[in-house]
Amino acid sequence: MPTAVAPANIAFIKYWGMRDTHATLPFNGSLSMNLDTCLTTTSVTLDEQLTTDEVILAMYQQPATVATGRPRERVVAHLDRLRALAGSPCRVRVQSANTFPADAGIASSAAGFAALTLAAAAAFGLPLDTPALSRLARLSGSGSAARSIPTGYVEWYNGDDSTSLAASIAAPEHWDLADVVAVVDTRPKQVGSAENHRLAATSPYFNTRLAELEPRLPATRAAILARDFEQLALHTEADAIAMHVVCMTQTPPSFYWNPATLAVMAAVRAWRAAGLPACYTMDAGANVHVICEGTYRAEVERRLQALPEVQFTIANRVGAGARLLPDTP
Ligand code: PMV
Repeated sequence: MPTAVAPANIAFIKYWGMRDTHATLPFNGSLSMNLDTCLTTTSVTLDEQLTTDEVILAMYQQPATVATGRPRERVVAHLDRLRALAGSPCRVRVQSANTFPADAGIASSAAGFAALTLAAAAAFGLPLDTPALSRLARLSGSGSAARSIPTGYVEWYNGDDSTSLAASIAAPEHWDLADVVAVVDTRPKQVGSAENHRLAATSPYFNTRLAELEPRLPATRAAILARDFEQLALHTEADAIAMHVVCMTQTPPSFYWNPATLAVMAAVRAWRAAGLPACYTMDAGANVHVICEGTYRAEVERRLQALPEVQFTIANRVGAGARLLPDTP
């Protein structure tokens, strides 16, 4: 019974907008780091007695339940893809648990589909090399899952079906960054990223953001490689705002920020102006990811926890990519 662990990841340059909904191809390349404490653990057991796949999900602080509806359909569609590749008719039992709130802008689907891809590929005897797994994870429909396969700092390339996959650009040890997630809302978001990826190109600012990314993506990669926090902070905040502007100006518009999100953003800006090097970014959710170097992590946690808008924080260092647990074949 292969069991895989995969991390959530936080993007410095976001994937926003889907060019090909069938193959989950992005309009732009993206850059992220894996998180070391926001994890999903998934086991996949082949069972010839089963007539349909059984999917059991234990979400954050909730008992394990049999998945139904859309969450189950997405898992089964991905299993069908892997079964077809392996030429296997066998149904499976999937057991999955995550350590952090789902559907709240902390990349639970990236961690979930990366772990499912690795565990199912191992169960079906498919090749387990990182490029192949990253491409397969992309096909799950949660494209950012491609970035949860390789280790550390990761780039997902904007290519065609065979070349659009993610690769590590630096190991976790390259730079001790932290992502302290300021949780201001644990409820699942109203509109999923899949739907907004399809609507993104209706925003009049969509092409403006893509044009900005031409210099911004290489500059952000260079900032990571040079461990230049000031440049990383500049580009990370700018792209987070650009992504959300696109989202708020699409047809129909969609809003992930709430007043608590804006309060945390304002606090981080004020701290930085007063000398604490930290910056913010938000995914498809209200929660704020505060990025800083490891030496400032405890101070950032302390200050975030003191804000009335923050329910709790989840501190992460840079993590490894998806891996099989050692006691599994
Ligand atoms: O991979 P998806 O469909 O869950 O979309 C991810 C979108 C963002 O988290 C907002 C950006 C990103 O690159 O992670």
